[in-house]
Amino acid sequence: MKPMPTDATYTFSVFNQQCRKDVDAALDTFLPQSYPKSGALQDPTQLRAAMRYSLFNGGKRVRPTLVYASALAISSTAFTTHKSLLDRVASALESLHSYSLVHDDLPAMDDDDLRRGKPTCHIAFDEATAILAGDALQTFAFELLSNIHDGDPLIQVALIRQLAHASGAHGMVLGQALDLAAVGQNINLTQLETMHRHKTGALIRASVGMGATALGANAAQLAALDTYAAAIGLAFQVQDDILDVTADTQTLGKQQGADIARNKPTYVALLGLDAARAKAQELHQQALAALESFGSNAHYLRELSAYIIERKN
Ligand code: IPE
Ligand code: IPE
Ligand code: MG
Ligand code: MG
Ligand code: MG
Repeated sequence: MKPMPTDATYTFSVFNQQCRKDVDAALDTFLPQSYPKSGALQDPTQLRAAMRYSLFNGGKRVRPTLVYASALAISSTAFTTHKSLLDRVASALESLHSYSLVHDDLPAMDDDDLRRGKPTCHIAFDEATAILAGDALQTFAFELLSNIHDGDPLIQVALIRQLAHASGAHGMVLGQALDLAAVGQNINLTQLETMHRHKTGALIRASVGMGATALGANAAQLAALDTYAAAIGLAFQVQDDILDVTADTQTLGKQQGADIARNKPTYVALLGLDAARAKAQELHQQALAALESFGSNAHYLRELSAYIIERKN
């Protein structure tokens, strides 16, 4: 893998393209199409095909990009000193995220047919295969982190702990449970924010935290980055809610209007479009303020925050 741009002379879009390429290459190495010749059972089922289908279907790779950008905020030489570790951490986050999407789309959850412009996993395969592919993508994420064989074992455990905490009953899965419980209910803004901070914010916070942890960030750096990440994590879901109303299905790669059709409480439903947009702007400003002490090293984190509220899909 060639070294990535690490200074502010590159635009965010160049950086994001490079991050996408790198994490895709890493994932393809970690989860190749065919099993290794020796040892492991040759899987006669569709499991691995469904995992790869859900991983390599054109996601924006926001969480991997956050991992790389956060590492660069801690050290401008992160890509020369820690690149293979970062590829692994980025792959773990994308794998966990892909699992969350496969399960989010299931008939028992959001019942969606379209994801990243393609049939959802349970449509392309079948429901049982989609459940299992999600399960396997989740454990694969932790296997990737468990297989870090060099570096500080305390950092490795911290990485595993952050991902586990952000994914489960304190994080994304709790958020998904709150989301399903809120369908058709009149929840207030505080409840909505709590739901968003968990279902989407938690993994985004973990991405930023893990990128920095991998580089040995200190407590003050981690705290500042966590303030940044909490703001963009909420902004990410506010923008997701806005796009559900304003974008078209083809640009989105998922069914436009799905939240309204399913009576989901969203920022737009509770506040209206203008106030939702203002909220996203306010969160972007909060995120920028949290990065003040990082100087130019945080260039890509700043650009990422802007991207999150300006993105079209
Ligand atoms: C979609 O996430 C689900 C949410 C958490 C809002 P992304 O918008 O990051 O989806 P992909 O990975 O680019 O498809
Ligand atoms: C999904 O939220 C959050 C997770 C997958 C954890 P949404 O249900 O709003 O995501 P989309 O709109 O289907 O991508
Ligand atoms: Mg959902
Ligand atoms: Mg959904
Ligand atoms: Mg949505």
